Parts: sequence; C-alpha cells; structure tokens
Amino acid sequence: SVDISTFTRQTGHTALDYGFVNTAATTSAITYIDGDKGILRYRGYPIEQLAQNSTYLEVAWLLLYGELPTPDELAAFDDRIRRHTLLHEDLKRFFSALPHTAHPMSVLSSAVSALSTYYERESDPANPEFVELNTIRMLAKLPVIAAYAHKKSIGQAFLYPDNSLGFVDNFLKLNFGVLSEPYEVNPVMSRALERLLILHEDHEQNASTSTVRLVGSTGANQFSSISAGINALYGPLHGGANEAVLDMLARIRESGESVQRFVERVKNKEDGVKLMGFGHRVYKNYDPRAKLVKESADEVLRELGVHDPLLDLAKELEEIALEDDYFKERRLYPNVDFYTGVIYKAMGFPTRMFTVLFAIGRLPGWLAQWREAVNDPHSKIGRPQQLYVGSPERNYPGTA
Ligand code: ACO
Repeated sequence: SVDISTFTRQTGHTALDYGFVNTAATTSAITYIDGDKGILRYRGYPIEQLAQNSTYLEVAWLLLYGELPTPDELAAFDDRIRRHTLLHEDLKRFFSALPHTAHPMSVLSSAVSALSTYYERESDPANPEFVELNTIRMLAKLPVIAAYAHKKSIGQAFLYPDNSLGFVDNFLKLNFGVLSEPYEVNPVMSRALERLLILHEDHEQNASTSTVRLVGSTGANQFSSISAGINALYGPLHGGANEAVLDMLARIRESGESVQRFVERVKNKEDGVKLMGFGHRVYKNYDPRAKLVKESADEVLRELGVHDPLLDLAKELEEIALEDDYFKERRLYPNVDFYTGVIYKAMGFPTRMFTVLFAIGRLPGWLAQWREAVNDPHSKIGRPQQLYVGSPERNYPGTA
C-alpha cells in the first residue's frame, strides 16, 4: 500500500476515487474485515464467537478499550450506564414539538443533536474525563431517545427507564411496556435482540462511521458527531436498507408479482429497482452477519410463536438470486439487512423503527472510532480534494 497523500504531494497528482472505493483515510485497530472470505472480527475476536457468548455492553467495552472487560469492569460499566439513562424533562418536551408522523430516525438524530445543548460545558473533546462521561451518557440515553421516538410515533406515553433491568430488557420495556401495567420481559426476545445488536456494533469505515470520524476531525463533540452518523445511517443504501427490505417484501407480496418476475425487473434495472439487502461494498461473499441472522430467524420466529410469510418470501428471493448469473457475476450476496427486519417485525417493532435499532447497535462502534480518530497522532481535519470541471474564468455581464 502507498501513503497516497505523500505520493500525490510529491508527484503533483490528485487521485480521483468516487465513493472512496480504493482510498484508506485512516489506519484502525478496531475491526477487521476480509470481504472475499466473509470474515468479520472485533479487536481480533470472530463475530460468531462474540454473538454466541457475549453481551452488547461487553462488546461495547471491547470496542472502546481494546480488551474484554473483567467481570468487575463490566459490572461497573453497566452500573454507570444505568445511572445515566434519564433524560432531562425539558428534552422530553422536545418530542412534542415534532409531528407524530415524523420518521423515528429524524427524531433520533435531532434529539441527539439537542442532547449536546444540555452538556455544552462538559463537551470539550480534548478533555478525556468529558469524553468518558459523554460516552456513558450516549450509551445510556440513546435507547431511551429511541424508545421515545417509537412511543411518539404510536401516540403512547413515555415510560421512565427501569434501572433494575439490564440494557436490552430496559429497552424492551421502554418500547413495549405500557404506563401503570406490569411488563414481563420475554427472555427469547431479549437474547435475540442482544445478538442482533452485537452483530451491528462496528463495521470499520462504512458511510456513517466515516461521517462520525469526519465530523469529529473538525473538533466537534461526540453528540454532534454521532448525530451526523445517525443521519448518514438513515439512507436506504446504508442502514435504511433494513426498512427498505421489509417494504420491498411487503410490496411483492401485496402485488402478487412472482419472485422470479421481480428478480427480472431488478436485473433489467427497471425504474432503478434493486434487490434491497443484497450487495456490499466490501463483502464479495456471504456477509457473516447475514449468515448468523438467517440462522436465527427461523428459531426466533418459532420461539416467539410467529409465522411470517415474508420470511419464506425472503428465502425464496435469496435462493433465486444466488443461482442467477446477474448476481453471481457481480458477487452480490445478502447483507446484514436482508433478514433482520423479519425478526424485528416478529418482536413487534414497526418497520420505521428498524434503522433506529441499527443505530443503537452501531453506537459503540461510532464512539470507539471517534475516540481512535481524535487520539490518532496523525489525525487532521478531513478534507477531500476535488477535480474542478466547471466553467473557466468569465466576466460578470457588463463588466468586460
Ligand atoms: N440489486 C441489484 N443490483 C445491484 C445491487 C442490488 N442490491 N447491488 C449492486 N448491484 C449491481 C449494481 O447495479 C452494479 O451493476 P453494474 O455493474 O451493472 O452497474 C454492480 O452490482 C456493482 O454495484 P455498485 O453499486 O457499484 O456497488 P457499490 O459497492 O457501490 O454499492 C451497495 C454497494 C450500496 C450496498 C449496493 O450493493 C446496494 O445498493 N445494495 C442495496 C442496498 C443495501 O442493501 N444496502 C445495505 C448495505 S449494508 C449496510 O450498509 C449495513
């Protein structure tokens, strides 16, 4: 590999790389991906082992600090997060200013941005104590904001966090509990959600993480950087694909169109239609996360007592696509978003909450990558070059 900035400076060349397909903007010690082999590791640990044995907060610690926590470290981390779940009452009122039809991702990013107004005096990114505190605040409060975005969209009252519960159980209660009625956490649902969140925790320099790093490179605080990352995640080519997949499956089913015919329309690029949840910039093999999600989809739906014909439809789509030359030649496989939506739906989340769940999953990675970028001795403000292709100099009318 070549340090392109040194090379281009020395030779006077500028590299043009649309979509940064072949340009590294940083070194990183957090996540390793081998896209050809379908390998994903956090800090060296295979994703399969973490998804099987770990918890969301344990993996968050691993991403942030580089090693697995000791039991005492994990307990203290968990305890600290539980103590920071409350939102300022004024921030709760912020939600009333938004229409109930607002997309929960817009609500999430706006509320995270607004969060920074409450901690302005403690948000200096150069102060390690504040960075630590705001890491905890973000991990504690994002699920609460997310659940309020959900409650707002269905017109139900907000619940206060129940800090006797663990991270995932508390989140489930905030979403599905109803004021003044007891709520029993379903352990199947809890473990399934925990696994899905772990699978999303980091994915090296994807669009939202790169956004977080770029915003962070300007000296902006964690709240502003993460809010920008949430907006980048919202798009249907990135995290928004999980919502787009369910919409696509529902549309196929409702229209009565055959799966084969739909695939033909994708191949002919009719109206730009894509097979959402397929393809990836880095994976040219089965996305290892998608493999794990697919394996657990049947099990989770069975244990939750749900039969969803959309899961059968998704499997049929995958089977047809994987046998088709169009997808084979382009090495297009299901990505993490292809099967997650069916599970979220079975849990009772509305489609518009799917990308919000992705954001909660990805938060530890964003925070870890933000720290790595800010602490990198080589770090400087991110500022891509351009090749100007516009008009040459000309005179304003009447001035020549
Ligand atoms: N359906 C149909 N064709 C596709 C798809 C798809 N899902 N994905 C890629 N292709 C085709 C492209 O049209 C292109 O074909 P061409 O060579 O005939 O022009 C070829 O495969 C290469 O695709 P690119 O768009 O160049 O690949 P890129 O790396 O830029 O894009 C992306 C990756 C955005 C993920 C793309 O595969 C896509 O749009 N997928 C659907 C959306 C999606 O699922 N996004 C989630 C990604 S995972 C995540 O962010 C969590």
